[in-house]
Amino acid sequence: MVAGFLRALSGTAARRANRVSFVSMKPQVVFVLGGPGAGKGTQCARIVENYSYTHLSAGDLLRQERSRKDSESGQLIDTYIKEGKIVPVEITINLLRKAMEDTMQKDEDKFRFLIDGFPRNQDNLQGWTAVMEGKADVRFVLFFDCSNQVCIDRCLERGKSSGRSDDNRESLEKRLRTYLQSTRPIIELYGEQGKVRTIDASRTVDEVFADVRTILDKEG
Ligand code: ADP
Ligand code: C5P
Ligand code: MG
Repeated sequence: MVAGFLRALSGTAARRANRVSFVSMKPQVVFVLGGPGAGKGTQCARIVENYSYTHLSAGDLLRQERSRKDSESGQLIDTYIKEGKIVPVEITINLLRKAMEDTMQKDEDKFRFLIDGFPRNQDNLQGWTAVMEGKADVRFVLFFDCSNQVCIDRCLERGKSSGRSDDNRESLEKRLRTYLQSTRPIIELYGEQGKVRTIDASRTVDEVFADVRTILDKEG
């Protein structure tokens, strides 16, 4: 009896998790990808200042969830982040979905999203498709491309003040491996669909942003 009740309850929770309710416009999404430290967050901040986009960083949402007092996933997220592994998508997609819904419920004109650091592997992509297919349009992928060395240098520099548990050499090696093995194939997949806009991210913030502008001005 108790078991049946719990099953029914988890069935309801599962349905609720899968129900996506956007109030008006269909969300228009730009995925923002690139290696660790490529400058995704920095460029997203510049975009938000200049265009009507809302920035949602999957990593930031996971870190927030990790520090939420009653979180059931906090410990798991903590371990995955230190290990540079990708958190199971059930967790991430719910955080993203909720952030998108909350944004559009507060202001229905805010239907343009930069989704930063997602999808990072096949599991992420499958979770997105399962929950969001038909409910949000993925316009294109902004790909900030730079060498591993630039990624390492920038993350170690950021690590001097970020307080992040993964901005150290050991975690970085793992994050780069994950990026090369799991994320690059996703970028290639979108590339085959003509959806990737690649930017040389190894230059200065202003130079990189000039290219971002050209792309966004053209794509609308
Ligand atoms: P990501 O979100 O891709 O991990 P961030 O935007 O947080 O990257 O940038 C990583 C670090 O590199 C930060 O300390 C940031 O100030 C710095 N940074 C970002 N873009 C550049 C750039 N074009 N040139 C030099 N440093 C940069
Ligand atoms: O994008 P960011 O560098 O903030 O991501 C930090 C970490 O968060 C990743 O290395 C990974 O452990 C986790 N993450 C994840 N799934 C995502 C994005 C981030 O598991 N889609
Ligand atoms: Mg970031």
